[in-house]
Amino acid sequence: FVSQPVPGKYILVTGGAGFIGSHTVLQLCRNGHDVVVVDNLCNSVEDSVKRVEIITGKKVPFYLCDVRNKEDLTKVFDKYDFWAVIHFAGLKSVAESFKIPDVYMQNNTEATRILVDCMMEHDVHNIVFSSSATLYGYGRGKDLLTEDCNIEPINPYGESKYKAEQIITEKMKSFEKGQACFLRYFNPIGADVTGLIGENPKDIPNNLIPYITQTLVGRREILSVFGNDYNTPDGTCVRDYIHITDLADGHLAALEKLRENEVNRNGASAPIDDRTLIYNMGNGNGFSVLEIVAAMSKAAGKQVPYKIAERRRGDVDRLVASSAKANKELKWFTKYNIEQMCADAWRWQSTNPEGYDNPSEYILNLL
Ligand code: NAD
Ligand code: WQD
Repeated sequence: FVSQPVPGKYILVTGGAGFIGSHTVLQLCRNGHDVVVVDNLCNSVEDSVKRVEIITGKKVPFYLCDVRNKEDLTKVFDKYDFWAVIHFAGLKSVAESFKIPDVYMQNNTEATRILVDCMMEHDVHNIVFSSSATLYGYGRGKDLLTEDCNIEPINPYGESKYKAEQIITEKMKSFEKGQACFLRYFNPIGADVTGLIGENPKDIPNNLIPYITQTLVGRREILSVFGNDYNTPDGTCVRDYIHITDLADGHLAALEKLRENEVNRNGASAPIDDRTLIYNMGNGNGFSVLEIVAAMSKAAGKQVPYKIAERRRGDVDRLVASSAKANKELKWFTKYNIEQMCADAWRWQSTNPEGYDNPSEYILNLL
């Protein structure tokens, strides 16, 4: 996918050292954009950004900055002429959000308010926001979830993201020329094909794929499959997995849409109710936990050790996206299948068993 940079302007990526952020920064650089990253490194390391610089040969200024800190954020806005912000920074563990809901509200909702205030004060009109399929809650009665499905967050994490969407929508109404795009991701997995960057959670992984890959390299003993009595063909939950590079490209497609709208309006503001666009980002195919275990075992050439365990609080039978709206309006289509997603996840973890720490011979030769 090719997205055109706006000459002389930068893209600010918050949370750009994280999993989705670093892959998006990489795709932005590959498309010639000038990117600035802010991140507080609460769930990432700066090495991810350094590796993007190595892969692309492009400099990516990095600022250790918490989005909740308006003073620090303002300094970054004062320094660069941004055309758009891609806002990834936030916390994403559903389980943790039940324990510390206030912290989720601060990091995901209030931080978003502060960021948009900074944008408005600096006349930065465009924002792409990381939203989530978790907003659809139980996804009741729908084979494929569309953007107009009921919003019913069933955990504090989902509530914090939905409130952030609402804040952005409200603020855009009083922001001349402002426009926002919410991308509701399903289950991003995999890694860049170079194997140089990938998913690197700081604590014990909550998500399925990093738990599996860390088990395969011996960092975890055995995968617990959370429940096999769901209303699905093999009894384990079904999800819509999307390759991280496809998802990263979705952000470039969103930027391109905002840019196109800006050009088409010839400098005028969008009507008040048209300032926010919403798109699902998924594949439209569902895979069960056991199907993923089989696909990862095949990619790694060894069986993933697993046991069936109790259900996990808050899990639902099936969440699969319709991404028809993004296909049509953003001209964005996924390219990678489940075998490629698993192969790339495995390339990353097998060559970087400790994430960005202690790089293997193979990685050292590439760096
Ligand atoms: P991640 O944890 O790898 O990345 C988030 C980044 O934000 C990290 O680098 C972290 O250090 C940083 N961060 C957190 N709070 C911050 C703050 N207050 N100030 C500055 N930096 C901060 O997670 P990810 O998977 O890359 O997710 C990125 C975004 O996408 C998140 O907002 C997440 O909620 C959302 N999302 C993720 C998924 C998923 O399955 N990975 C699905 C839907 C939505
Ligand atoms: C996938 C499946 C688990 C771990 C979460 C958020 C969602 C979005 C994506 C942010 C489920 C099962 C998992 C394990 C398992 N994130 N599993 N053993 O729950 O679909 O979505 O991440 O917005 O909002 O809820 O993803 O990777 O945690 O789980 O059996 O050790 O794997 O029960 O069925 P999930 P996941």
